[in-house]
Amino acid sequence: MKNPAPAGFFFACESVSTQAMPKACRRSDALAIIAASFFPRFSLPMYTLARELLFKLSPETSHDLSLDLIGAGGRLGLNGLLSKRPASLPTTVMGLDFANPVGLAAGLDKNGAAIDGFAQLGFGFLEIGTVTPRPQPGNPKPRLFRLPEATAIINRMGFNNLGVDHLLSRVRTARYRGVLGINIGKNFDTPVERAQDDYLICLEKVYGHASYVTVNVSSPNTPGLRSLQFGDSLKQLLDALAERREQLTLEHGKRVPLAIKIAPDMSDEETALVAAALVESGMDAVIATNTTLSREGVEGLAFGGEAGGLSGAPVLHKSTHIVKVLAGELGGKLPIIAAGGITEGAHAAQKIAAGASLVQVYSGFIYKGPALIREAVDAIAALRR
Ligand SMILES: Cc1cc2nc3c(=O)[nH]c(=O)nc-3n(C[C@H](O)[C@H](O)[C@H](O)COP(=O)(O)O)c2cc1C
Repeated sequence: MKNPAPAGFFFACESVSTQAMPKACRRSDALAIIAASFFPRFSLPMYTLARELLFKLSPETSHDLSLDLIGAGGRLGLNGLLSKRPASLPTTVMGLDFANPVGLAAGLDKNGAAIDGFAQLGFGFLEIGTVTPRPQPGNPKPRLFRLPEATAIINRMGFNNLGVDHLLSRVRTARYRGVLGINIGKNFDTPVERAQDDYLICLEKVYGHASYVTVNVSSPNTPGLRSLQFGDSLKQLLDALAERREQLTLEHGKRVPLAIKIAPDMSDEETALVAAALVESGMDAVIATNTTLSREGVEGLAFGGEAGGLSGAPVLHKSTHIVKVLAGELGGKLPIIAAGGITEGAHAAQKIAAGASLVQVYSGFIYKGPALIREAVDAIAALRR
């Protein structure tokens, strides 16, 4: 079997010439990647070149290297110089002001390692995490698979993260002052009946540092987690969060919006029940959607049978359908943040047309780089004209 193709990437800048690189850089992939980031304005698309180079590394190695580079570019203030910024498209949702409605989805920067770096690429908002109360290693590797024929990814990372305290240390040192969502989850060894405890620990810790907090009940890679989306489990969790938020509002003198992130693998009836529960408990937004357990669109492809959540192009219609159903049920009572399968600007516009107020990208960003942010902002701006 072929090695898994990498899901990592680096594209803080968008054009580079191999001619322009020192010879030594051509001898070493890793060096070439680093050098490439400092020779930005030449002929080949930087993103294409960087992807080629990163394909030679294992998925997680290239992912980690990319994060390091984006982080380093951010600290040096380089990323903003190296990629053309999207147009400004101010948007107010949940009482928060967004520079544009296109955000980074959770899971790419789980520990807040590269907040300034991602911000400089032009995102209108960032969501970091999923973070858990205690650090945890996640599932055994390999756990990340790229399916380029389908512009898709399968992952079963399992909330690998350094814990909420570490994440907060990174948030404190970031210079970014835009909208920052912090996505919270439960440790894998916390029984699902006690999941609420983990969410409340994280909510309390991140409250003073987040523009909004996302409650992730939809990862398919933490056993039992998705059961929290239904019935009494959902109701109890939402009520507990709402109650604790009331106390935190008084303590901090600010009301931080709570968003609930749901899965695409729900029937219309189940989606309608979730919508009603969110309204009833006073939640502020819904994020639709996380990855899917379906393998439609990747049958027969290399790694198509790997366990985990599928994201990217194959989840587009499933996720947009959930957005439509939610929009019908919610009737504007709470905003929808759409994620799932946006690999072109037009897809972002489709999500807004379906009833979303904001969009987030992950897999499409891996495949297309920061150009996707600009494309999406432009497509959404065209809808407003
Ligand atoms: C490798 C990987 C890791 C992810 N980790 C998280 C996570 O920790 N928390 C979360 O809420 N979503 C996570 N997601 C889901 C994304 O945030 C997003 O909801 C989903 O991938 C659909 O969007 P996309 O098709 O643009 O990738 C992850 C996705 C991928 C591909």
